[in-house]
Amino acid sequence: MESKKLRSQQWFGRKGKDGFIYRAWMKNQGIPADEFEGKPVIGICNTWSELTPCNAHFRELAESVKRGILQAGGFPVEFPVMSLGETLMKPTAMLYRNLVSMDVEESIRANPVDAVVLLCGCDKTTPALLMGACSVDIPTIVVSGGPMLTGKYEGKDIGTSDIWRFATDVKAGRMNDEQLSAAEAGMCRSRGHCAVMGTASSMAVMAEALGMALPGNAAIPAVDANRKVLAQYSGRRIVEMVQEDLKPSTILTKKAFENAIDVNTAIGGSTNFIIHLLAIAGRLNVPLDIDAFDAKLKNIPLLVNLQPSGKFFMEDLYYAGGIPAVMQAMAKYLHMDVKTVTGRTWAELLQDAYSLNPDVIANLDKPVKKESGFAIVKGNICPNGAVIKLSAADPALLKHTGKAVVFENIEDYKLRIDDPDLDVDASSVLVLKHVGAKGYPGMPEVGNMSLPQKLLKQGVTDMVRISDGRMSGTGFGTVVLHVSPEAADNGPLALVQNGDLIALDIENRSLDMLLPEGELNRRRAQHAGFANPQTRGYVKLFIDHVEPPHKGCDLDFLKGGSGSEVLRDSH
Ligand code: FES
Repeated sequence: MESKKLRSQQWFGRKGKDGFIYRAWMKNQGIPADEFEGKPVIGICNTWSELTPCNAHFRELAESVKRGILQAGGFPVEFPVMSLGETLMKPTAMLYRNLVSMDVEESIRANPVDAVVLLCGCDKTTPALLMGACSVDIPTIVVSGGPMLTGKYEGKDIGTSDIWRFATDVKAGRMNDEQLSAAEAGMCRSRGHCAVMGTASSMAVMAEALGMALPGNAAIPAVDANRKVLAQYSGRRIVEMVQEDLKPSTILTKKAFENAIDVNTAIGGSTNFIIHLLAIAGRLNVPLDIDAFDAKLKNIPLLVNLQPSGKFFMEDLYYAGGIPAVMQAMAKYLHMDVKTVTGRTWAELLQDAYSLNPDVIANLDKPVKKESGFAIVKGNICPNGAVIKLSAADPALLKHTGKAVVFENIEDYKLRIDDPDLDVDASSVLVLKHVGAKGYPGMPEVGNMSLPQKLLKQGVTDMVRISDGRMSGTGFGTVVLHVSPEAADNGPLALVQNGDLIALDIENRSLDMLLPEGELNRRRAQHAGFANPQTRGYVKLFIDHVEPPHKGCDLDFLKGGSGSEVLRDSH
């Protein structure tokens, strides 16, 4: 390899005082110059944090990546970026996804790295790191942290989706505090991210289906020895990618995004996938519209039987053949000619893949469910679209008209939802406003709001729910999310009032409040509008610049990329 081609040589390859400064300070780590002079320098972007329990094993994982890099003749340098722990961060980790993407982008560009390995795990760490890396566009590979082992409670398998069931059972008096504690103790049995097809798993699958990770990356459990093997292989491969100059912009074509959308449908992936994929596409200026996510375009069935849409867990998916087996089962829908980080096409990579367990990875002739993926609905509540996950909804509610029970914000919902006097019945439509990106801020996962206690006690299990928020990838129900524009962005959702008739019609992809145009105009004229309450800091920047959900909620000035060139030189 000619060293002049390496980006890192702009630092380490210089003569005299300029190179002296760059090299001498690396040597204070006890590293001889021949370790990094002339070799591909590979950054390992680490989201390790004890405040991100899903990523808490990443320092160990990074060692496996380093071993692979060294074996292939590269020089590994590990660097931290802000991490995002879904369970601990308030008000919501999503508020910081774009901030982390900026951290990643600037950390990569500013430093002498020729390529980067992204260590991703908990929900937002995957899209944030991919967004940042795409805006720089040097060779990049994703290594996911892997899911936890399947949880156990009273002899049954459990995962994060069961939390919603436990919460309902506690509310309905079917489960006591002691039982809840026992379930809590058995839920998270090992390191790794949520073991269901929630957002973290969907993001790991997304990285694999986009071609940005080695085949098999998504499903290997965090504690399985093969997770480290994959990390080491990824370390070896990224060094080759430098030699091949294989960048995200080469891999992430429109076809690659279409593959990711189709695979997400077949796995019953998270609704958050839409927002994150749109944001990643935006960084590469790949044209992608929210309508591209509508299941009716291809009618791909649900092939993977995992919670929350089905029964099993990520560990089972791994034993059944993982994502390569899923992609092989649905190959006729996929662009098999696109190249991945391996340098090979899916047609080459999937030759020997097959399902080892049809109960977990089914086939097109006998799918888990005929209907999967998302419906993108539009109407006078959501002129720019809203999202519903079909495999998680009650088919009986997919055409439904009911009276709105409106909550102006999350505090209002918490205050009144269990009020015995709340005017609600099973046919009502629960409407939650001001939980969008600007209004909350950060668009929290509260869209699958739990049902009123009095209805749960009557045995009601699902109702139509509408909000401008998101839903955990582990959640389920007939839940309309991501209403765009959001209430705080002068969206018509803000105009819905108690008692309005709301009509959801999935067949016709519509969601409307049944009101005369004159009444809507009257309410619009009286509506006060929204002013950013923040006066400083990142949150003010976020509210001022966040794009609507149908465009991916990136900050408007982060669209596209700035490449890997460093503009000015201090030495
Ligand atoms: Fe991290 Fe679920 S909380 S993946």
